[in-house]
Order: sequence, then structure tokens, then C-alpha cells
Amino acid sequence: MNLKSAINLEDMRVLARRSLPRIAFDFIEGGADDELCLQRNRDAFSQYRLLPRYLRDVTRRDQTVRLFGHDYASPIGICPTGLAGLWRPDADLMQAAAARDANVPFLLSSASNNALEEVVAVAPDHVWFQMYCTTQDHINADLVQRAIKANVRTLVISIDVPVNSNRERNRRNGFARPFRMTPKVVLEALMHPAWVLRYLRTGGVPMMKNWKPYAPEGASAGDVADMYGTLTPAPMVNWDHIRRIRDTWKGPLALKGIMHPDDAIEAVRLGVDGLVVSNHGGRQLDASPASLEMLPAIHAAVGDRAELLLDSGVRRGSDVVIARCLGAKACIFGRPSLYGAAAGGQAGVAQVLRIMQKEIDMVLAQIGCTSVEALDRGYLWQPTAAHAAPQHAPSDGTPRPERAPATPPADVPVAPIN
Ligand SMILES: Cc1cc2nc3c(=O)[nH]c(=O)nc-3n(C[C@H](O)[C@H](O)[C@H](O)COP(=O)(O)O)c2cc1C
Repeated sequence: MNLKSAINLEDMRVLARRSLPRIAFDFIEGGADDELCLQRNRDAFSQYRLLPRYLRDVTRRDQTVRLFGHDYASPIGICPTGLAGLWRPDADLMQAAAARDANVPFLLSSASNNALEEVVAVAPDHVWFQMYCTTQDHINADLVQRAIKANVRTLVISIDVPVNSNRERNRRNGFARPFRMTPKVVLEALMHPAWVLRYLRTGGVPMMKNWKPYAPEGASAGDVADMYGTLTPAPMVNWDHIRRIRDTWKGPLALKGIMHPDDAIEAVRLGVDGLVVSNHGGRQLDASPASLEMLPAIHAAVGDRAELLLDSGVRRGSDVVIARCLGAKACIFGRPSLYGAAAGGQAGVAQVLRIMQKEIDMVLAQIGCTSVEALDRGYLWQPTAAHAAPQHAPSDGTPRPERAPATPPADVPVAPIN
């Protein structure tokens, strides 16, 4: 299989695994602890069924969506992912360009390798800036000022990394600062010569350029990464930090990593405009619910007072459609875009976006819906007792026990509405 013959995001994942050293692929792929949340994120989507309606004219389908005052081509976007330049030099620029060409948003991580200013210049309408608050208030304030100066339209604060999590793949592989380049890691990396060549040609570990201004003159990429590690995570971050940023930042502001409806309500109370319902792709709290599981309650809590986005486990067009039915305006995804970048650079990222757009379009037609704006819970179906297969009577003639009615989750309609 090559880029041309890859037809879905799983294919892109296989290509990325081939092109990256194991230590790198595992860093992207892994989750916290036993990686149960990773699986839960996928399983949550499979709990839902889309119920098709036929004999409707679906010749034209419209995916456009308005997010934070801008019209995008589809209800999808690319999640922020730090260190992307390690998988593909200039991956941040490539993702920005692919997002611009597909007219979808790209959330640039503050832990990127390319600098915020150069990435925004590539796609001012498509690059949103994601930052973590650090231990240093003056750096937080400076990052916001830099975003204002760079003409960032939408600022996203990630709130779900109070401390580093237990990612056992990384620990076993020695993915930590300083890198332990064991002979085993080096030998395995040599099996991916294209990556090794690019890595060497671009000077090895890439600089986290956003952080260079805060490091001493002449600091190496390794020094800057070490300094970044002393600034984040910042366990003292609290609602006051958000309040201060809200006071300074006049444009659209979103929080990423919201999982509790009460936190969603508090964010709206402070004037936050958008929320990304997310468990960080299962990379932080392994015992966390799937983000899709929390979406209905968060939507019920804030209604239209905040624009809701969702990530964690989104891999199919039908996932996006299901999330839309449950109140998300758009879905974003992290690992798939990195698969694309690792496997094929900008063309790989573009292919990931194209695959998702095609799948969404096909699902819309299949369910008889001509516009993502029209998606609602009426397109969802849950099995009820009446629809479930009958139980077999015991063969010894004893009476069959009364079947308990299947109880769907409280926030899911038991039958189609339209
Ligand atoms: C390699 C990697 C790096 C990440 N870095 C960041 C980051 O810098 N900031 C952030 O808010 N989230 C980060 N995330 C989390 C993603 O933004 C997103 O929440 C998650 O990947 C969504 O799950 P998915 O990969 O299943 O789509 C990272 C995720 C991955 C896989």
C-alpha cells in the first residue's frame, strides 16, 4: 500500500507506522496507563446507529459550518499536536497549508516546532492558536500578546494537562528528556531510512521555536525542550488564569479538554465562546469517560451559549455526523493528521482531510440529509426492547423469565423523531 492506494484513516495509520521509528510512532499512538480510554473513545461511537431516511432528494449536500464567525467547508479540523516536526520537518506548516486548502481549521499547538508567527502567516483564517498556561504568568501574558500581534483569530486554552500522565509506551521506549538513544532504538530507527535521512538533513531534534525567546541566548533545541519541561505542565492553573486571559483576549476564546458539564457552565459564565469536549485522545486520564459520552450532558448544560467541538477517537465521517447529532458543531482529530504528515507530508494531511470530507458527504446522502446544519437526534436510533431479538424459551419447558426492557442512556431518544 502507498499513499495513492490508502482509502481510509486506518490505511494512513498503517503507512505512518511504516515510515516512523517505533519510538516515534508509539509516542503518537499511545495513551495513558492501560490505554482503556483510547478504546473507549472508539467504542463510544459504535454505541450509536444512524437511521436512514429515503426518497428525499439528496443530489446536493452541504457540509459548510460557521465556527467563531468564519465559514469553513466542513465540520472537521485538525487538533493541536506538539512536536509534530519530529515526525516530519515543518509538519506544522504543512498542516496549516493543508487546512487552508481544504478550508478547515488547524489548531496550532504552542508546543509546535514551527513558530506561531510563521504558521499563522501561511493561513490566517485557518490557524487557531492553542496554548497551555505555564507556571510563569509573564510568559502566559506574552504568549497572548504574541497571538494578538500575529493576528490570530481564535485562541484555544488546553486545560486537561495539570500534570504529566503515565504513558508507559514512552517510558519503555525511553521517550523522555534527555533522550536515551539506546542501541535498540537506533537500530530500529535505521529500518525507516527516509525518516532518518530527513531527521539528519534538518539537524536532528527540531527546535520548539515558540519557546526560544524565553531561553538564554544560544540555547540548543535540547535546552529549549528542557526549559519547556520546567514551564509545563502547570498544576496551579485555575479559573483565574482563564479570567485574566478573557480580559485581555478580545477575539473568540475556547477551552479544550472540557469533560464536566459544571466546568462547561463555569467557562460560559466567564465569557468563553467555545468548548472542545476532549479527553486528550485518551492520553491523560485512562479512567475518563469517552468524550462522546459526555457530549450530550455538556450540550444540555450550555446549549447554544458556546460553540461545541469534540475530539478523541474521531476516525470516520459517520463519527462526525453522530457528534453533530448530539450537539457538536464540528469534530477535530489529532493522530490522523500526524499519520498523514508522517506518511506523505502536506499531501498526506490533505488526503486525510479529503477522506473525511468524502465520508461525511456519503453518510449525509445515506441518511437522507442534505446539510450538516440539519443534523439532529432524529437521525439517531437506539435498540428498544420491542426491536430486540426474542429470547429462546428454555428447552425443558420452564416458563421464560420476563425480559427486562433495554434501557438506553437517559439522554438518547429511544426511537426516531423524524
Ligand atoms: C502526538 C500528540 C501530541 C499532542 N499534543 C497536544 C498539544 O500540544 N496540545 C493539546 O492541546 N493537545 C495535544 N494533543 C491532544 C490532541 O490535541 C487531541 O486532543 C487528541 O489527539 C484527540 O484524539 P485523537 O488523536 O484520537 O483524534 C496531542 C495528541 C497527540 C497524539
